[in-house]
Amino acid sequence: MTQKTEIGIETPETSSVTAAVAADARLEFDAEGVYLNTATSGLPPRRSQEALQKAITQWRVGRAKAPEHDMALNAARSSYAGLVGVEPSAVAVGGQVSVFAGLVAASLPDGSEVLTVAGEFTSITFPFLAQAGRGVKVREVPLERLAESVTAGTTLVAVSAVQSADGRLADLDALARAADASGARVLLDTTQAVGWLPVDASRFAYTVCAGYKWLLAPRGTCFFTVQPELTGDLIPHNAGWYAGAQRWDSLYGSPLRLAADAWRFDVSPAWHSWVAQAPALDLLNEIGPTALTPMPLAWPTASVRASICPLVTRQSSACRPDRMSARSWNELASSPVSVPVDSAWPSTSTTAPTTPTGPLKPSAARSHCESQSGRRSGRCHRLDR
Ligand SMILES: Cc1ncc(COP(=O)(O)O)c(C=O)c1O
Repeated sequence: MTQKTEIGIETPETSSVTAAVAADARLEFDAEGVYLNTATSGLPPRRSQEALQKAITQWRVGRAKAPEHDMALNAARSSYAGLVGVEPSAVAVGGQVSVFAGLVAASLPDGSEVLTVAGEFTSITFPFLAQAGRGVKVREVPLERLAESVTAGTTLVAVSAVQSADGRLADLDALARAADASGARVLLDTTQAVGWLPVDASRFAYTVCAGYKWLLAPRGTCFFTVQPELTGDLIPHNAGWYAGAQRWDSLYGSPLRLAADAWRFDVSPAWHSWVAQAPALDLLNEIGPTALTPMPLAWPTASVRASICPLVTRQSSACRPDRMSARSWNELASSPVSVPVDSAWPSTSTTAPTTPTGPLKPSAARSHCESQSGRRSGRCHRLDR
């Protein structure tokens, strides 16, 4: 069965709910072409832009009230909790993944073994490597051998659900089983997953997710979940006034009076980022955590993605030009949308057209890649720098 999208492309029929919701969602975006770079930085939906614009106007005229930004933050926290299947009380908020990874790292016993994946994103490895002075050892294994490498000597597994470098997925079921069997805890970085891939955060000791990619927020939002029974094991190293049980009564003076739940790990927020994050999460919840998953995973035709882009150009590797088949490229190129190649590649480009007018063949993508990296390499699709 096929259906025609609003831009006239024949696509395999997805569920009618998905198609209708996706069509509405698409109206929230104004990308000048098919946006392929959410693995680096997501685009804000219109509702986020409007909320942010309103907040900036209030700020400009002197009518911004700091506590009111907490409303957006709390709404975002609840929405995120719903997306990953935990209670809001199990979700701490902050600004960067590395800060929360550092919190976990600093609380490890001396001499702990941390298992991770070779080539893992450094915001969840550097904080552990930095603990070497007190005997914390980091052991790296290939992604496909992660679960089998968890041993009784493993204190913590620190890994991404989806690899930042190339989009490979960790086997989360196998990892959870291995961790349960050995008693190891898991810090799962879901930055490249939550938003398009369903993740049950309650299965893992800790999860952490930056909001500026698949959660469609500006830089400056991050969520950290902790299993409630483990809250007391983490030292709240980052605690400031925002970690207080009553944050607006925690501004001055001792004693320490922190929230009893995960909110004790809150780091004082970049307010405007949260103003934009909350509506973006509303949108993702409307779409639902499963609606978009089968498409990236099953590698649909590129035109399916094109038809509801950018929300469906979500798989961080499958949409990358160097990974697309010739057929996919031709399908994409035959759609009446352009591909802003420069946004998907390092910004120093002098060779690539900013808005290609014709099909970009895989060979063109590859040679552009070579021109950027100076060599042909599987790493040329890294988008984070
Ligand atoms: C897997 C993963 N984790 C974390 C981050 C961002 O880390 P931080 O919030 O420390 O900048 C990225 C950014 O690309 C990422 O891909």
